[in-house]
Amino acid sequence: MSCCHYQPTGDGLETAFTVDASRITFGRGCLEELGDRASALGMTRVALFSDAGVAALEVFDTAHRSLRAAGIDIIEYTDVHVEPTDESFTRAAAFASEAEPDGYVSVGGGSVIDTAKAANLYATHPADFLSYVNAPIGGGAPVPGPLKPHIACPTTSGTGSEVTGIAIFDLLSMTAKTGIASPALRPTEALVDPDCTDTLPAQVVACSGLDVLSHALESFTARPFVRRGAPDRPSLRPMSQGANPWSDLGSREAMRLLGSYLERAVSDASDREAREETMWAATLAGIAFGNAGVHIPHAMAYAVAGQVRGFHPDGYPGSAPLVPHGMSVILNAPSVFRLTASTNPQRHIEAAHHLGADVSDAGQHEAGAVLAEHLVGIMRAVGMPNGLSAVGYGEADWARLADGAWPQQRLLQNAPIESDKASLAQLFEGAVRYW
Ligand SMILES: [Fe+2]
Repeated sequence: MSCCHYQPTGDGLETAFTVDASRITFGRGCLEELGDRASALGMTRVALFSDAGVAALEVFDTAHRSLRAAGIDIIEYTDVHVEPTDESFTRAAAFASEAEPDGYVSVGGGSVIDTAKAANLYATHPADFLSYVNAPIGGGAPVPGPLKPHIACPTTSGTGSEVTGIAIFDLLSMTAKTGIASPALRPTEALVDPDCTDTLPAQVVACSGLDVLSHALESFTARPFVRRGAPDRPSLRPMSQGANPWSDLGSREAMRLLGSYLERAVSDASDREAREETMWAATLAGIAFGNAGVHIPHAMAYAVAGQVRGFHPDGYPGSAPLVPHGMSVILNAPSVFRLTASTNPQRHIEAAHHLGADVSDAGQHEAGAVLAEHLVGIMRAVGMPNGLSAVGYGEADWARLADGAWPQQRLLQNAPIESDKASLAQLFEGAVRYW
């Protein structure tokens, strides 16, 4: 390995990394391939997952038509909860157990794809709900075997769920976001069709694009895999294995594409090139973070989204309080990267460069400020709120938000720095206002 970032660092620590990825088909119109691809995987009776909003769109008809043309029976489940919960996962699993499909297709955003993963898991390997959920909230039990084949068809350019083995949900009894993480959950194939994003509102493109940006940036700056303890057995190596050369490839290119195209994709829905490149960046960053893992900005985001009181953004349906996932992530990011830059200033400067900053005069000691300022510039350009104060948080909330982020140990331990509740509270305070 040419880069000293990945030189082995000591006894008992990791010396290897694993690359996992779904088969991906990318390109305009590729959703038409769905029926043929489902057939090729041996599917004859498909559980088709979506939500009520997406089910009303042409993209859902396209999926339906393609499956029917291949002679495949369809059992629809369009009751997916946007921002799924343990209850909505359990309902979907009950549907799948009864329907007994031999394959799964999900058409929608991260909520839909994650719900199909969970339904597939619990219908294939029934267990007490919390047993597979990430520790310390759940038992963290390994998935005992493969799931039924699943083709994921994302309709937003954000979560990357189509290429990861992670399913995120709200655990209602704890008002906490957590998830299930296992390579077995990774969809068998992804059909990534940029035609699906042409009708997305600007604010949705902005939030999902900034989620992608943070996936790339967090994967790139995560604790290097050589500084994680080696697993007892190689097959137990976690998906959040830390920064690694494979994930760096996708992260660098995703950052470069977003630096060039995100603002255009947000400001002009008819800019097909920009929307397509943003979707390709989402796919690359999804592959990157599916193998490296994200860290502190996402851990903090789950608290920001979970404790929202009154904020509701333009462009999102309904009026219930909501901080969209990508917004809840990016609001923390400048505060976090100001702090983590000291762990590897060169890497943070390089990230700013990929995102389009002029770093020709940047000294090592300025790395955090340079990256944070550039992120803030991108946030302003695509209409993000001005820090956590603009979504309703203030001085009295930092400790409670830190309590909310603390259970996200899988993410916090993947960070390049150690944290505790006091340092998390400081990071929330640092995100209060940016301009
Ligand atoms: Fe995310």
